[in-house]
Amino acid sequence: MENIAILGSTGSIGCNSLDVINKLNHRFKVVGLAAGRNTKLLDEQVEKFRPEIVSLEREEDAEEFRRKHKSKSIQVTFGQDGAEEVASLKNCDIVVSAITGINGLRPTLAAVKSGKKIALANKESMVVAGHLIKATAREYGAVIIPVDSEHSGVFQCLAKEQIKDVRKVILTASGGPFFERAHQEMENISLEEALNHPRWKMGKKVTIDSATLMNKGLELIEARWLFDLEPHQLEILIHPQSIVHSLVEMHDGSVLAQLSPTDMRVPIQYALTYPEREDSLMPSLDLSKIKALEFFEADVEKFPLIKLARFVLEEGGSYPVAINASNEAAVSAFLNKRIKFTEISDVVAEVVENHQKREVENLEDIFCVDRETREKTRNLLKERT
Ligand SMILES: NC(=O)c1ccc[n+]([C@@H]2O[C@H](COP(=O)([O-])OP(=O)(O)OC[C@H]3O[C@@H](n4cnc5c(N)ncnc54)[C@H](OP(=O)(O)O)[C@@H]3O)[C@@H](O)[C@H]2O)c1
Repeated sequence: MENIAILGSTGSIGCNSLDVINKLNHRFKVVGLAAGRNTKLLDEQVEKFRPEIVSLEREEDAEEFRRKHKSKSIQVTFGQDGAEEVASLKNCDIVVSAITGINGLRPTLAAVKSGKKIALANKESMVVAGHLIKATAREYGAVIIPVDSEHSGVFQCLAKEQIKDVRKVILTASGGPFFERAHQEMENISLEEALNHPRWKMGKKVTIDSATLMNKGLELIEARWLFDLEPHQLEILIHPQSIVHSLVEMHDGSVLAQLSPTDMRVPIQYALTYPEREDSLMPSLDLSKIKALEFFEADVEKFPLIKLARFVLEEGGSYPVAINASNEAAVSAFLNKRIKFTEISDVVAEVVENHQKREVENLEDIFCVDRETREKTRNLLKERT
């Protein structure tokens, strides 16, 4: 039996992880859950999986939860410290890191410092602190297995390869809901349209990032750290069918690809069972029904955040922290209907273009740049609304 803790258990990745664990209950046991504010769903998860510890974002929710579950021997904690406690639980073997945004960074790093196997979905952690996470993982013997389908694909392609033999890595993108939308019609996109992703059912923040293609920009930076690649080795291709998750071109001209059904439970299960594989209840991929697998170049004029993310990838330093912070703030403003869809990229571009690069060596440096950039973005947003 392997013990698992899930950070972000009430989210899309969290729920899919619990579904996989439920099917593989001969092998996995849930010992810890960390959630944000959805106490109702956490209640149901506690009844079903009986963890030893849970954490909620807010103290008042934790207090109420504790009162409600006082007959059970369950520890209830809260906040970033609480999520860190769940992440570093002594008797836990695997941590699924699936809190959204930079809020996932401290708990992810706590899991890394405890030397766990980490199924990493929280890409923002790798974007803002990839160098720190990789160095800490080496120091404490933690193993990081990507959950993002594209990175899981690269990881699987590279399983028997050496990184020195890789010429380039291509991450695919579905293209999101606006792949076929005319450039001049982008301004009038509604929140509802942007949340209606054609292929993946995900949390709101990552769904909007997929609509602006910022998600792919963040994934380029994530891949740079996960696989120790140089920026020029990373490319993206639009692949509307979302069947080929990534391609790895080797120096000898061979191109390796990973294909699977469009369902996050495939990469989640792979990360949890790695280095083994278990039977999946997923239907087999039937390529004769899908028929065509298409690939297109991304339109960087229509989706300018791709170009900006590539600039940030090449510059490094504090730029990835700045682009992530301004994007989180701008997406939140769009989700609250305070700005238009195209203003997300306008605002992020303005903030990043005015950013003064500096070195970010530790968590304090990262959170300092994060705070400053959010403040600048909020001021810019105020001017616009
Ligand atoms: N969904 C996908 O298919 C997918 C694919 C690849 C990568 N990812 C990445 O995985 C991460 C999670 O995505 P998602 O789609 O699962 O997002 P989501 O559905 O919005 O779920 C986010 C989870 O984080 C929790 N949370 C938010 N703020 C928190 C805080 N301050 N403290 C503790 N918990 C907090 C939420 O709790 P409450 O809901 O209880 O408030 C929820 O459980 C993101 O980084 C995303 O980019 C997602």
